[in-house]
Amino acid sequence: MHARFGIVLPGDAENFLRSRLLGYVNSSGHRSINALIREAGTDGRDDLLIEVVEQLSTNHSYFYREPAHFEFLASTVLPEIKQRTTRSGRTDLRIWSAAAAAGEEAYSIVMAMRAYFGKQYEDLDAGVLATDIAVRALRRGAAGEFKSDAFRYMPADWRSRFLEPLDGGRYRVVKSVRDDVMFRWLNLVDPLDFLRGGFHVIFCRNVMIYFDDDTRRKLIRNLAELLAPGGYLFIGHTDNPDHTREYLEQLQPAIFRKRIAS
Ligand SMILES: C[S@@+](CC[C@H](N)C(=O)[O-])C[C@H]1O[C@@H](n2cnc3c(N)ncnc32)[C@H](O)[C@@H]1O
Repeated sequence: MHARFGIVLPGDAENFLRSRLLGYVNSSGHRSINALIREAGTDGRDDLLIEVVEQLSTNHSYFYREPAHFEFLASTVLPEIKQRTTRSGRTDLRIWSAAAAAGEEAYSIVMAMRAYFGKQYEDLDAGVLATDIAVRALRRGAAGEFKSDAFRYMPADWRSRFLEPLDGGRYRVVKSVRDDVMFRWLNLVDPLDFLRGGFHVIFCRNVMIYFDDDTRRKLIRNLAELLAPGGYLFIGHTDNPDHTREYLEQLQPAIFRKRIAS
């Protein structure tokens, strides 16, 4: 797991593995946790390794998590994009939600853009790339259906605008918002240079806590390279900002900006 996905286990790994994997072992038909781990570690069993990783790393997320970030988007980033569009006619807006879980963050970004730009949004060539290694979470994200819990902290007017109720207390994100998020499988520990770069905004929140220091540092360097000059990086409020400061200018505790070369 460390070699493939950069994930380190907590100090009491044995207890942690037991508590997280017992239920899975019972349903998957493996004889024991050891047997599961042995098989998942076999070459060519990436699918099983990913299943194990999904049990061990939490995919928990929710809409409008860490509101200060969405407020900053609306007060600073989006007005800047609007000005640029008016000045230069450029309409592209590239945003990446890295470690997106089921897209709660990515959908919140699209909602923030639609709420800010109003009708003008349709003139933009905007979209959010949402990536993760958790196959089930990505699948849930693409379906766009969530329990009402996930929306608890979202601005009230967004609910009526961007959600449609389903049976059983569930909601679906409206199609116009779903269409602007593209879900893809991507491992943040792999080389990322196949991505074209030039992102105006990258959200990479609440995933670095799973990584060791070296993996974290490499990831931040890669993210900084993939940002457009003047682009913004948002990390989680509990993520350690140390390495980020090495590569980017810090604007707020968990918000960074790539310098525009003079
Ligand atoms: C707690 S969720 C964060 C979701 C969202 N960014 C947020 O802040 O609410 C952490 C996510 O990181 C993903 N993850 C863990 N290791 C990863 C890796 N090597 N590459 C990509 N995603 C990874 C997990 O699958 C999980 O969905």
